Amino acid sequence: MLVLGIESTCDESAVSAVEIESNGKIKHIHKELVATHNMQPYQGVVPEAAARQHFQLLPQMIQEFRDLFPHITHIASAHAPGLMGGLMMGVAAGKSLATALQKPFIAVDHLQAHALSPLIENPELSFPYLCLLVSGGHTMLLAVNDWSKIRLLAQTRDDAMGEWFDKIAKRLGLGFPGGRLIEQLAAKGDPNNFTFKSPKCKSSDLDFSFSGLKTAFLQIIEEAEANGTLDAKRNDICASLQATATRICVEKLTAASKQHPSCDIAMVGGVASNHAIRTAITNFASQNNKRAFFPSLRLCTDNATMIAFAAYEKALNGNCDLAAGVFNRSQIIK
Ligand code: KG4
Ligand code: ZN
Repeated sequence: MLVLGIESTCDESAVSAVEIESNGKIKHIHKELVATHNMQPYQGVVPEAAARQHFQLLPQMIQEFRDLFPHITHIASAHAPGLMGGLMMGVAAGKSLATALQKPFIAVDHLQAHALSPLIENPELSFPYLCLLVSGGHTMLLAVNDWSKIRLLAQTRDDAMGEWFDKIAKRLGLGFPGGRLIEQLAAKGDPNNFTFKSPKCKSSDLDFSFSGLKTAFLQIIEEAEANGTLDAKRNDICASLQATATRICVEKLTAASKQHPSCDIAMVGGVASNHAIRTAITNFASQNNKRAFFPSLRLCTDNATMIAFAAYEKALNGNCDLAAGVFNRSQIIK
């Protein structure tokens, strides 16, 4: 099958054409386009601005695939969860193209697509595996048992991990999105100048929480600003934040691995592009006779290749629906 995937859940407009074998392995990625909207002026994602960008960009991007139109077998759009305006643009574009080409339309869950994304480049990874999904909007630990059998083991009680990076980066005047910028400064800083305990959540020690850490970092920044030392401390603050995030990822995976001892580990989502976190998780896995898998950087952040790929099971089962709706909650991971 040759699936044209469309992603528009947040501030990336993306289109990919992915050929998938009947056994669910990728045969060939024909073409991938991604346009990241410039949200710098707003220091955050403004839903209406993102929706307008999708409205402008998606038709032009889809046109770039016209040579492949005769060979496309399915059209897939992300339909949940995400910003409503963007979801409607991507789903409307997908449904229109499916109607024009007389091909089936498949609604794909964005979080399911992230959770399955390590399979795209790692055919040796198999179900079940543990997956740490960490992005600007979500922080979850998942047991990925099959294509659509994904169990939520834990999630954040408040902010997402990427959101924590972004808010501190914004307060430090680094820009948006902040994760990559924090990683760059962290490389020049000392993580031991400021140390933070990992938050503990009472009812389930697997759940995450970042609001307390956010406040603790903001206090340090305010104090440094007040006594004129912020410039000198900026790199150390970034290094501490990254080290704290790394430690939390490893602690959660350690606890989850005790409950799922035979599972390999994957990390996905925008924060999975962080090299320090990737290295720590790789080391943790090898010390515990496990393997760790990560999508390459372009497949960690939002992309349409993962949307096309995740459409495989529905395409195989003929689970196609031109009347599919859009939802701000995941329809698979609950
Ligand atoms: O998956 P994604 O592209 O979009 C969402 O669905 O949210 O993730 C974006 C998030 C942002 O919060 C961004 O700051 C974070 O991923 N991020 C990083 C890095 N690159 C992106 N966080 C830490 N280190 C990075 N290198
Ligand atoms: Zn995402």
